[in-house]
Amino acid sequence: MPVNPILICAPTPELRARLEQLQGAGYVTTTVETAADVVSALRIGSYDVIVAEGLAVSGAIARIRGATTKQVPLIVVSPAGDVEARIAFLEAGADDVIAASFPSTELEARVEALLIRTGKARPEGAGGSGAGKIVTFFSPKGGVGTTTLAVNSAVLLAGGPSAMQGHGARVLLIDLDLQFGQVATHLNLSPRYDIADLCSDEQALADPGLAATYLATHSSGVSILAGPSSPEADYRVTVDQLEKALRILRPSFDHILVDCGSRLDPRTLWMLEQADTHVFVIFPEIAALRATTLMLGYLAETATLRATTHFVVNHIFPKELLKTRDVENLLRAKPVAEIPYTEVDMIRAVNEGVPVVFSRPSSPSSVAIGTLTLAIVGAEWRQRTAPKKAAPRAGGLRFGRR
Ligand SMILES: Nc1ncnc2c1ncn2[C@@H]1O[C@H](COP(=O)(O)OP(=O)(O)OP(=O)(O)O)[C@@H](O)[C@H]1O
Ligand SMILES: [Mg+2]
Repeated sequence: MPVNPILICAPTPELRARLEQLQGAGYVTTTVETAADVVSALRIGSYDVIVAEGLAVSGAIARIRGATTKQVPLIVVSPAGDVEARIAFLEAGADDVIAASFPSTELEARVEALLIRTGKARPEGAGGSGAGKIVTFFSPKGGVGTTTLAVNSAVLLAGGPSAMQGHGARVLLIDLDLQFGQVATHLNLSPRYDIADLCSDEQALADPGLAATYLATHSSGVSILAGPSSPEADYRVTVDQLEKALRILRPSFDHILVDCGSRLDPRTLWMLEQADTHVFVIFPEIAALRATTLMLGYLAETATLRATTHFVVNHIFPKELLKTRDVENLLRAKPVAEIPYTEVDMIRAVNEGVPVVFSRPSSPSSVAIGTLTLAIVGAEWRQRTAPKKAAPRAGGLRFGRR
């Protein structure tokens, strides 16, 4: 089912209802009433197509085009049988024009054709129920680098500052450590809103443009849904709200990384069930490994999981506490990456709010985080970069937009 976000502009309730039938085809729609509303919506939200009625030929299309640097394709609904108006809209910059008498099948076909023409068609079933692939980061033991790895992978996936020019993947990083989540701190951000604010706003949970206003943006291009500013908010966020938040945000992103912290509760369990990929962070110590095996057994019994599982060993202590071979034997799996102990850089990265893959892109830990990030989206990245042969350095990873 297509999941592209569509912005509808319809001044009359009758036309609004007909255009909103796009929801029946699976599109996520936001409806506004005037060309000025379209301009405002484009400034705060991300849309793949605009379908608009009631635009004046002169001026309105140019204003819409000027609202964002992204070229959002525009379908104008013009009076039925008015060939001159149709030509005028096309000349003014509309990508397509549809007569107001359209049957719903024609509208769907034109939207789909435009999405294909502009390379934005999202194939059926891409990323499960939505577009963005969900990657969860979890460890049954706290303080082992779960947030560090989620944050660094996210900024790598977004392609660093080049994402500002639109070269990176669209990445959302959710802090689901609902008591003391520190994703924002790792990125030196002080977000105005947090996940609990979004979850308590029923209107935003039904409107992608409004939901997007709850996100903060990092200079790498990563969008952040920050953890609550108060631990008490933990008691207010429900699975039902999270489900709505994910459904409304998901179509706007290629990758959704979730820092699930170190506690299994109904919210983190639900998120693990939604995930396409799990990253379990392993601290090489017997108690942490036992906790991991216990957790895996529990998940196998109680949860319906469909994700690919990756283990990553993080050496947060200078001494090798356990041999990698022992870790592999205990997990009965080979870790996808091993992050070496990094004496000062890691702590400095958190204190300064600059992810280590940016501050020390060629350090061994950054290279290992690059390996982990490649494993998360490996197939996709290889497909995009073929026929390049050399493995990239972590600091140089670039992922193109869908
Ligand atoms: N490979 C490493 N070498 C040295 N220090 C590391 C390494 N990985 C992470 N750290 C440091 O360990 C500390 C904990 O990291 P982080 O906050 O990412 O862990 P966490 O599992 O998310 O913790 P919490 O359970 O508190 O959320 C940080 O100071 C971080 O800089
Ligand atoms: Mg953490």
